[in-house]
Amino acid sequence: MTTATTKPLNQWDTSALKTQVADWKAQYTDLGGGNLKLDLSRGKPGVEQVSLSDGLDGILDGNFIAADGTDTRNYGGVRGIAEARDLGSQLMGIPAENIIAAGNSSLSVMHLVLRTARDLGLWSDERTWSRSDRPKLLAPVPGYDRHFVLSKHFGIELLPIPMTDQGPDLEAARAAVSDPSVKGIWCVPKYANPTGCTYADETVAALAQLPEVAAADDFVVLWDNAYAVHDLYDEGDTLASIFDAANSAGTADHVIQFASTSKITHAGAGVAFIGGSAKVLDALDKHLSVFSIGPDKVNQLRHVKFLQGRLQSHMADHAAIIRPKFALVEEIFTRELGELGVAQWTKPRGGYFVSLNVRPGLARKIIAMAKDVGLTLTPAGATFPYGNDPQDQNIRIAPTFGSMEEIHAAMEILTLCIKTASAEQILAGR
Ligand SMILES: Cc1ncc(COP(=O)(O)O)c(C=O)c1O
Repeated sequence: MTTATTKPLNQWDTSALKTQVADWKAQYTDLGGGNLKLDLSRGKPGVEQVSLSDGLDGILDGNFIAADGTDTRNYGGVRGIAEARDLGSQLMGIPAENIIAAGNSSLSVMHLVLRTARDLGLWSDERTWSRSDRPKLLAPVPGYDRHFVLSKHFGIELLPIPMTDQGPDLEAARAAVSDPSVKGIWCVPKYANPTGCTYADETVAALAQLPEVAAADDFVVLWDNAYAVHDLYDEGDTLASIFDAANSAGTADHVIQFASTSKITHAGAGVAFIGGSAKVLDALDKHLSVFSIGPDKVNQLRHVKFLQGRLQSHMADHAAIIRPKFALVEEIFTRELGELGVAQWTKPRGGYFVSLNVRPGLARKIIAMAKDVGLTLTPAGATFPYGNDPQDQNIRIAPTFGSMEEIHAAMEILTLCIKTASAEQILAGR
């Protein structure tokens, strides 16, 4: 299925392009329409990765007592056990006293934070987002679809702003926050979902200042550091500390951080963390303690015992499994599309995704073509609020879950669909 060509497709003469399209279409037809079952849509760890943490099972060996004597088998301790908060501190690079170690999912604590911000107040005073008719959050795009779903769930509007390779477009962000109904910004600061970008130091500093710049007095930077330790290479990207920057800028009450062990140990069966100022954690405590009499401290203790002193080597084991999968995606994109001028894609140094941009107007079509021959991709528009990718060009690729063989087959199909759809579009425009 390889293509030996070195010229951008839009520079081909029409008859050569027509011949080539006929050949690609024949290859597509040969795929047999839907007999395959391939999937590049799932941002999940693969079986080999989750197996790395099977040692969690039975690790306590009957010893359920935390370092301070707490019996983790019983109720209580809304902020989690001290050593789990230390683990959160290691992950998030902020002091343990600024951390709540919660239940199994960072999304559920984001839910808690949005609910608290909207209806109850993050600072134990009169400031709630519900005072505003139409509270809004800034959504750097392309971004993480579940942030959008969560915001929509609470009736919070999303305002897209562009992502750059340095992080969210700061000029757009500063302009948007002059509207007092803009209450915050979603950020995935390291190995962003889906672009893989790590925010530049200047971006981190500027975002820490944004609550000062914003017209709203209840503006919050929602810092979802889901990929804090998920480096693909020995030398990972370095993310500047927004905790330090916010302390310097006097905005510590307006930056809330999230992380979890979901893609470190067992996805959905780990420990999630919230990081924030004492004032914010106090407000969240009140609502957390209504929600639950305490988190799963037994699982917290398991995680501490399992990861203590070996977080780095454990993440290196993950990287050894998924690095070849990312390399395969890059290799096939380069081989099949490198010279054709019909797509750009990211080359992440960590995280879980590759972000692909095809020619405007083609993402939906390519995803449908792939689906028809048995390859599932993330739905078109998923990386934009309301599913609306105005250019219809972004496709999120998730290479971690499939086997190397599956990724290989899936990428051959995807690149064939891209080439065919692009060539047809070019021909239609002549
Ligand atoms: C940016 C980001 N945040 C949060 C999550 C989910 O985290 P959790 O499993 O802790 O709810 C994901 C999972 O894909 C993610 O990509």
